[in-house]
This record gives sequence, structure tokens and C-alpha cells, in this order.
Amino acid sequence: MSNENIKTIELRSNDLTLDEPSELAPSSLNRSIHEFDFNLICEYFSNVERQGPGSPEITLKALSFINNLTDESRIADIGCGTGGQTMTLAGHVPGQIVAIDLFPEFIRIFNRNAERFNFQDRVKGIVGSMDNLPFQKEELDLIWSEGAIYNIGFQRGLNEWREFLKTGGYIAISEASWFTGERPAEINDFWMDAYPEIDTIPNKVAQMQEAGYIPVSTFILPETCWTEHFYAPQIAAQEKFLTKYAGNKTAGELISNQRHEMQLYDKYKSFYGYVFYIGKKI
Ligand SMILES: C[S@@+](CC[C@H](N)C(=O)[O-])C[C@H]1O[C@@H](n2cnc3c(N)ncnc32)[C@H](O)[C@@H]1O
Repeated sequence: MSNENIKTIELRSNDLTLDEPSELAPSSLNRSIHEFDFNLICEYFSNVERQGPGSPEITLKALSFINNLTDESRIADIGCGTGGQTMTLAGHVPGQIVAIDLFPEFIRIFNRNAERFNFQDRVKGIVGSMDNLPFQKEELDLIWSEGAIYNIGFQRGLNEWREFLKTGGYIAISEASWFTGERPAEINDFWMDAYPEIDTIPNKVAQMQEAGYIPVSTFILPETCWTEHFYAPQIAAQEKFLTKYAGNKTAGELISNQRHEMQLYDKYKSFYGYVFYIGKKI
């Protein structure tokens, strides 16, 4: 996996970690660098409180703008990871939730957590890709996706996923966004390399409208979603990880990358952040 992917994949599990600390099998050494890096990334992010900026409070704030749900509702959580936000949702909405992620290990953890919270009868994780969703046309009442749509791009995701929503159905997405029209070159270049589709809030709202949604609400995730919920728990985890993988160049690069991101956020947080976009299909 490239540094770019390491930089942009922010997996999140809250307290929903693996049963036991995962170990890389010796056979990992024979795997491709892509698989090897991904195992490391999974292990690293399964050992911290959150794998991306956000919080249960912010998930619930976004949910407060959605008013069409009943016991019959069908909800999708796309790019669900291990399901931190899905379990918060499940505790506060009626209906059935199908959650999709590309990576089987996350879905395994997801379904184990759904059972742990006794949601297994109405919350199911399945392996799949967000560019080939297994839903019928106009099947869904709500599409949820926190910090994941960047994998196919904001505009493409909004356009392609729309057909699965009923008219009047909602979409709620968190996405990296610029807060200002201009910003220092260092942070501009960092994001242009990591995710060139990052844009200003008004431009993202316009894109949502152009894709056929009424923009219902847009709000910036507070700084604590990054500092308290995302970065702070990583500090101890990084030391533990570096001790375990002492001398492993890839592991060292992964941690350097995370630390660099954290420093950039601290330096440039007035210029960018995550934003929730909530829209209603017209
Ligand atoms: C930054 S994580 C966010 C996870 C979760 N939504 C959260 O907020 O905790 C992005 C997720 O997208 C998943 N992902 C990447 N490409 C995907 C694809 N093509 N289809 C489905 N999921 C994908 C990753 O496996 C990862 O779990």
C-alpha cells in the first residue's frame, strides 16, 4: 500500500477492537508489500480509540436532521470499517442496517460487535465495494458514510449512490473540506497529493445539490473530534507499536506518517477539517 493510502485510510473502531492483539504471521514476510502494509495499518488502528476524526455525539448530531425513519426503514452504512458509528446509529434508529466494507477482517469485527451489542437481528455487516453496491433501485431510506466516500470520490459517490435511495430519502456523509478559499502551500500540497477532490464547503454543498439532493444541513466537526477522540489515544499506541516492530521500516514509516499528519493538523486546523453533509433526495 502506498504512502498515499496510508495517509488517507483512517480506520476507526472506537472501543471495538480485536479480541486479542493481532500478530503478523511469519508468512506476512512473503506477501506483497500491499498486503503487508495493510495488515500493519489494521493492527495499528485496531489498537486506538478511534481511527478517524469523529465522535458518537457528532454521529447523533447528524442523525438529528433525519426524520423519515420507521421500523420498516432500510439503512446502509458504506465504508463502515469495524462499525464504531454504526453501533451508535443502531442504538438510536429503528429499521434494518446493512453495512458494507471492502475488507473482510473489518466485517468480521463488525459482526462480532453487532452481536456484542445485541443488534445482530437488524444490523449486518457484509463485504463489498462502494462502487458496486448490492442494493435495489430506490430501496434505501438512509445512506450513511463517515470518512469513507473519498475512496471513490465525493461527487461520484453522491451520483452513483443516489439511485439506491427512495425519493425523500437521506444521505449523511462526512468528508475532508477546506474552510477557506486559500491556504498555505504546505497544507494545500499535502491534501492535493492525498485527496485532490478536497474542496470548500460551498463547493461541496453545490456538488450535493447538482447531484440531486436538497442540502439539508452542513456542519464542521469540532476540533475535539480530531484531538481528543482521534489523535490523543494514538500517542501511547504509537510507542507500543514502535516497540513491537522495532527495526521494521514500514511500521516506522506508518508512525512517522501519522505523527506528521497530527503536526499538520495542529499547525493548519483553521484551514481544513471534516464536515458533515446531509442531503435529501429530491
Ligand atoms: C477512514 S475509514 C472510515 C471507517 C468508518 N466509516 C469510520 O468512520 O470509522 C474508510 C473505510 O473505507 C473502507 N473502504 C475503502 N475502500 C472501499 C471500497 N471500495 N468499498 C467499501 N469500503 C471501502 C476502508 O476499508 C475503511 O474501513
